[in-house]
Amino acid sequence: MDKKLLIVGNWKMHLNVHQSSLLVHRLQERLSGHRSLEVVIAPSMLTLQPLSQQIDRRRLKLCAQDAYFKDDGPYTGEVSFAMLGDLVQYALIGHSARRLYFGEDLDTVRDKVQAAIRNNITPIICIGETKQERDAGETKQVLHDQLTTALMNITSKEIERIVIAYEPVWAISTFDGILAKPSDAQKALRYIRSQVEDLYGKRVAEAMRLLYGGSVDNHDVRSYLELPEVDGVLVGAASLNYQKFVAIVNQAHQIQTERK
Ligand code: 13P
Repeated sequence: MDKKLLIVGNWKMHLNVHQSSLLVHRLQERLSGHRSLEVVIAPSMLTLQPLSQQIDRRRLKLCAQDAYFKDDGPYTGEVSFAMLGDLVQYALIGHSARRLYFGEDLDTVRDKVQAAIRNNITPIICIGETKQERDAGETKQVLHDQLTTALMNITSKEIERIVIAYEPVWAISTFDGILAKPSDAQKALRYIRSQVEDLYGKRVAEAMRLLYGGSVDNHDVRSYLELPEVDGVLVGAASLNYQKFVAIVNQAHQIQTERK
């Protein structure tokens, strides 16, 4: 199947305008723009505008980390998907940090997915279970609930633009070696694809790009990208280091070449 691998760097709440520009400069010097891959960065909201003028779109695309689901109105402090439409091609929606620290519930995630679609931004919907849910044997139920609510009201045409990222919350930002085994990732992603198939059919499920995220770095990226269900990775900490991120992109390119 001819799917482009998608490599996304989530910079989270790191790097000011100057630092972000420097990192983009360093990435662009080293990324050659492979046609079989899409390389996307999700910097802070503050830097999206200046970076949109700096990036070479053949090498890099921009992604928002979040936005508000109303298009405009008296929502002090918020930025809407409508405002981001000219700047970004992708938006993360429902990242576990949003769910955990900002109380984002299933309905809010659903509304944001619809707002992104309405404004021509491709949603990267992040789903995943916490350690507690995993220990209680609730992983499938959690994935099912997060997925089906997020996709509520999404038509069979709109679904073609959606990307799903499986990010087990217990494997995010771990610097102490708690990683999801590739087999864990494969199992969860296969389940997610089967759910999409139940809702939209086999063709859509097979065509959908599914990402894995959770402490992925240049040392372990290959073990995830080699999994048949994985169409890309969502990278946090390692994407802040240009050498690591470029090494991840280069390995993805190599794997894509081997797949053909
Ligand atoms: P880390 O790679 O830092 O664990 O972050 C993963 C993540 O949350 C990406 O969205």
